[in-house]
Amino acid sequence: MSYVIEVLRQEHCNIEKLLRVLERELSVFDRGDRPDYEVVLAVINYFKEYPDSCHHPKEDMIVEKLKARDPVRAATVGDLETEHREGAKRLRQVALAVERVLSDQDLLRQTVDDIVRDFISHERQHMAMEERIVFPAARGVAARGLGRYRCKTG
Ligand SMILES: [Fe+2]
Ligand SMILES: [Fe+2]
Repeated sequence: MSYVIEVLRQEHCNIEKLLRVLERELSVFDRGDRPDYEVVLAVINYFKEYPDSCHHPKEDMIVEKLKARDPVRAATVGDLETEHREGAKRLRQVALAVERVLSDQDLLRQTVDDIVRDFISHERQHMAMEERIVFPAARGVAARGLGRYRCKTG
């Protein structure tokens, strides 16, 4: 497996760890206790910054290479750009819900739970789809020459 895909898979593992942290804090919230909001906000900030500056650009690059080298196969991998945009929208809903909870605005506990769970489950579905469809398509075809990619944030 090429280096860049191995890095992307490792990043998915890191993302999954953070989703579990968020899930754990959500279960604290669900049972009526106070989650560690410092942790929740740190996870939200990670998702605001990291994927767009470091993870998604590498995925865009492998898909672009795949399109150039094997357009037929590339057509099977779906629209990552749109999915990433929708993920960012869901994250904004999460950030807004947490902001409202922290400023004591009226919001049903169930509504907050639905918004956060929706974000978590779509992130998981998206990563699973990439690992099932996008990465295998890109492996060996699109990933050569991407090993020198560096994140914008370093
Ligand atoms: Fe992605
Ligand atoms: Fe990904």
